[in-house]
Amino acid sequence: MTIPLAVAALLVGTGTAVAATGGAPGVGDPYFPLAGNGGYHVEHYGLTLRYDTSRGRLDATAVLTARATQSLARFDLDLEGLKVTGVNVDHARAAFRRDGQELVVTPRRAPSAGEEFRVTVAYQGSPKPVTDPDGSADGWIPTGDGAFVAGEPQGAMTWFPANGHPRDKSSYDIMITVPNGRTAVSNGRLVSQRTAHGWTTFHWQQSEPMAAYLATATVGRFKVEQYTTRDGIRVYNAVDAREASAAAPVLKKLPSVLEWESGLFGPYPFRNAGSIVDHAKVGYALETQSRPVYDAAPDLSTLVHENAHQWFGDSVSLTSWKDIWLNEGFATYAEWLYREQHGGDSAQKTFDSLYARPATDGLWAFPAGDPGSGKNIFAAPVYARGAMTLHELRGAVGDPVFFRILRAWAGEHRGGHGTTAQFVRLAERESGKNLDSLFTTWLYTAGKPNSA
Ligand code: TRP
Ligand code: ZN
Repeated sequence: MTIPLAVAALLVGTGTAVAATGGAPGVGDPYFPLAGNGGYHVEHYGLTLRYDTSRGRLDATAVLTARATQSLARFDLDLEGLKVTGVNVDHARAAFRRDGQELVVTPRRAPSAGEEFRVTVAYQGSPKPVTDPDGSADGWIPTGDGAFVAGEPQGAMTWFPANGHPRDKSSYDIMITVPNGRTAVSNGRLVSQRTAHGWTTFHWQQSEPMAAYLATATVGRFKVEQYTTRDGIRVYNAVDAREASAAAPVLKKLPSVLEWESGLFGPYPFRNAGSIVDHAKVGYALETQSRPVYDAAPDLSTLVHENAHQWFGDSVSLTSWKDIWLNEGFATYAEWLYREQHGGDSAQKTFDSLYARPATDGLWAFPAGDPGSGKNIFAAPVYARGAMTLHELRGAVGDPVFFRILRAWAGEHRGGHGTTAQFVRLAERESGKNLDSLFTTWLYTAGKPNSA
């Protein structure tokens, strides 16, 4: 008996439908369900951007080299706003549609599991920030002379098609063309800077793996300073002239801050470092990888904080936004330690003055390890109670073991990821103590803890 052609096709269709399903629209983070995407990992982003600062217009091409983790009849990228003019997958025109923050791509031929494929997205428009659940602006934020670009937690998609969750880390080449007189600053190393026909192109290269939210392409009128530290770290500072005099005494301390942090946390995780000091009313700084971005001249504590994130948050990344205390608690505790070791208040004194706050204070609104939703990830309990958790740990295990724990955490997860459960296990392993009740109390129990 011969099977009619149409039925055969149907059978094949059904058979492949199981394997060649689409990639998920998010990685499954409960705080940001659509952040990132399923079915592939991005190995490298090649972004070519041209930003016309007078019109606030971006013309861009993104080339993503990705590896499928399943057969991909269809897959998503995160992209908010902007107009997509074409998508190619492996040199063949691909079909695409927009669905909110999802750019849904249907390739001519589905990459199979384990296969590397290349996606090219041409896009343009006037990038605008997204508003985070806590009301703050995030992403490409136009300024009077360019743009302040900071993507935590979800703003990467406002300026490039991304697998926008820290679970995916990639290397980057970012090429930004801006009108002469403007400087475009991104992550990693400045490979080249070329001027032609009134435009200057900056080629930046971030070779160590980076989460999309840590990418920047901040544009402004900046004074630039470059040097290499005693440890061989290349420093590139870009400073808005209006912030220069306030920034200078703080930026001068960057090499000694990095040296001090390396002494405590282990070797600095990247080859490049620096600062971008803009003049923009954004209300926060961000630990953009290898080169934090500040919306105004930072104070010393903020410089210490953002650079501590290079170890905790950038090199060791989150797998879930719920674990944000692993970033903010650690960077905040670095500030306390810096003060303690530089003639200021002891960490104990900082802890005590926070602990003195009444049970009704916002500090005790939720436990550090369970912010509850994306609205709370940058709230006081994450930062201050997160740091208090580390101080409690330090008290329980003693200084030598505590600092060994910090170094082991940064060292063993360098360039990768870490979860709270892994941190707890590491702390127990290094100390030989059962620390369950300490972490349960400080990270997971509602209200002001009884014992200090
Ligand atoms: N991670 C930044 C820091 O503490 C802060 C930050 C990033 C932030 N994005 C934000 C704070 C959005 C409030 C709102 O170094
Ligand atoms: Zn921080």
